[in-house]
Amino acid sequence: MRRIVRLASAVVMTTFLAWGLTPPRLLNAEEPVDPDEALLASLPEGPGKEETFYACHGCHSFRLVSQQGLSRKNWDETLDWMVEEQGMPELEDDERTLILDYLEAHYNEKRALN
Ligand code: HEC
Repeated sequence: MRRIVRLASAVVMTTFLAWGLTPPRLLNAEEPVDPDEALLASLPEGPGKEETFYACHGCHSFRLVSQQGLSRKNWDETLDWMVEEQGMPELEDDERTLILDYLEAHYNEKRALN
């Protein structure tokens, strides 16, 4: 009788152990880290972060933006260029200001990131 109990508890333990180890791997397989989300998460915090990311990351990686360090005037001209030559939809005034604020704050001449 004792042996059976011990055997049964060993089986239960093994099962728990297997469950304990397996679910994280299964979860990772089902929900891989989205590289876009990871890039968004790595951007400097501030107003306009998501708006800027989604306005620019659709056609090209946001890295093309984040590797630049420009003045507000040059960002403004870059947005004109995106709209006039590259097919970017025109932005509402509010959104454009928000995006320019974000670009100027985080990707200016002094604070160009990677
Ligand atoms: C509709 C598509 C589209 C959208 C949206 C878009 N771009 Fe672009 N962008 C392009 C294309 C195409 C190029 C490459 C142009 C070239 O090099 O001739 C480019 C290139 C660039 C470059 C590189 C310039 C250089 O000197 O190499 C910058 C900076 C840039 N975009 C900024 C932005 C910003 C900021 C946004 C968001 C506000 C944005 N883009 C949104 C299409 C887009």
